[in-house]
Amino acid sequence: MSLAPPPPPPPPPPPAYSMKQYRGKLPLSIITVAVCCLALFALLYTERLSLLSSTSIFRPKSCSKRPSVLKSKDKSAEDNVYNTEIDDRFDFDPEECNVVNGKWVFNSSIKPLYSDRSCPYLDRQVSCVKNGRQDSAYRHWEWQPEDCTLPRFNPELALKKLRNKRLLFVGDSLQRGQWQSLVCMVEFIIPEEKKSMKRGRSLSVFKAKEYNATIEFYWAPFLVESNTDGKIIGDPKKRILKVDSVAKHAHNWLGVDILVFNTYVWWMSGLRLKTLWGSFANGQDGYAELDTPVAYKIGLKTWANWVDSTINSNHTRVFFTTMSPTHTNSIDWGKKDGLKCFNETKPVKKKKHWGSGSDKRMMSVVADTVKKMKVPVTFINVTQISEYRIDAHTSVYTETGGKVLTEEQKADPMHHADCIHWCLPGVPDTWNQIFFAHL
Ligand SMILES: *[C@@H]1O[C@H](CO)[C@@H](O)[C@H](O)[C@H]1NC(C)=O
Ligand SMILES: *[C@@H]1O[C@H](CO)[C@@H](O)[C@H](O)[C@H]1NC(C)=O
Ligand SMILES: *[C@@H]1O[C@H](CO)[C@@H](O)[C@H](O)[C@H]1NC(C)=O
Ligand SMILES: *[C@@H]1O[C@H](CO)[C@@H](O)[C@H](O)[C@H]1NC(C)=O
Ligand SMILES: *[C@@H]1O[C@H](CO)[C@@H](O)[C@H](O)[C@H]1NC(C)=O
Repeated sequence: MSLAPPPPPPPPPPPAYSMKQYRGKLPLSIITVAVCCLALFALLYTERLSLLSSTSIFRPKSCSKRPSVLKSKDKSAEDNVYNTEIDDRFDFDPEECNVVNGKWVFNSSIKPLYSDRSCPYLDRQVSCVKNGRQDSAYRHWEWQPEDCTLPRFNPELALKKLRNKRLLFVGDSLQRGQWQSLVCMVEFIIPEEKKSMKRGRSLSVFKAKEYNATIEFYWAPFLVESNTDGKIIGDPKKRILKVDSVAKHAHNWLGVDILVFNTYVWWMSGLRLKTLWGSFANGQDGYAELDTPVAYKIGLKTWANWVDSTINSNHTRVFFTTMSPTHTNSIDWGKKDGLKCFNETKPVKKKKHWGSGSDKRMMSVVADTVKKMKVPVTFINVTQISEYRIDAHTSVYTETGGKVLTEEQKADPMHHADCIHWCLPGVPDTWNQIFFAHL
């Protein structure tokens, strides 16, 4: 499949977390470490271990690294302290737990918070059940980090965190999916008259009126400007990026409290990209063709400069959702006769599975760019966790050109299966679970 698929109306994306420390939290973390160490001290030197360990305040939240040393060194102490726990993973602490290490666990009693029938705001494109998908296992997998317990998503708590705030997702159709996922994960607790949704060409806004909160999406598939931002140009060879210009989009990002960016899949339409920079009065003729990672680097630098020169990190938090993997080469997971992701019903089991749809060079461009920034940016690192989920794409249960695939098209997955976008409910719900655990 060429990259023409990222479909027209503004889309949504994914999360994986690698974290830069959030400055504002530093004093807090010092305090928590101190409290933790006190608690650990208490645990080790108090005889009333069972009493303490049953008190949740004293569970070893921020000192997870230390207790893990204790665990391996002193097995019996561990048994005493933790024998009331079901498993030995720690409570979640964003600065200690790497959520990327873990596994998908099947649990049929886990139910998504919404369905494509219950949530009125889902695009047909991602409404797999409505579009005819029959198997349901893909909705019952839960991501479990190895070292900690990822908190369940709590809609009330999420809305409280958003009270008096604007949250804006900016990016492509994968980001649009993440936005719709989040809206659906909270909207059902709000009565009809206390919420609203306004879809626009580039900006869409969901409002939770009583909370004075908005969850918004802004369509900018490359973040920087391009000639395909408005009306989508199907032929990648005709697309031209203005890698040094972001202002036209960015004035829509002002006054926002929480910004979540992504951009990846639109860059991957070929080996090279037509790019413009400087003030080329001659438009199209002034472009140069650059290798994709080079163009990406310049484009992200432009974005980073805007963030650093505009965002006050005391008022605005910035997140970046890493690349959402595509699953169009079934050979990646050892199926040489497979039809892309079509008919897949189980995640890949192999640890650290990484396919050809996630470009490591592009990942390092993002990591290097963010490292040099003044404003702290928190990664929602969705790439590895989503790599396993070959079963969760929209596949043939989607639409093209505004129409659900015909039976004939469904019978030809090689040409028509979409192995880029994700069914909702589905994997982007987990991205948001991770996102809110870090918020
Ligand atoms: C995201 O996680 C993967 C491992 O799962 C890691 O290789 C990559 O560097 C991380 N990305 C960023 C931007 O930190
Ligand atoms: C499955 O999920 C349910 C509901 O969240 C939970 O009570 C149960 O312990 C889980 N089962 C397993 C095997 O994890
Ligand atoms: C509502 O939220 C906005 C930010 O989105 C804030 O500027 C405003 O002060 C809030 N209004 C009230 C009444 O708190
Ligand atoms: C953020 O707040 C701190 C402490 O109040 C202050 O020292 C710092 O100058 C502020 N930073 C910005 C960018 O306004
Ligand atoms: C897809 O899976 C179904 C059920 O397992 C099977 O009957 C069918 O032959 C498969 N189709 C292809 C093209 O592999």
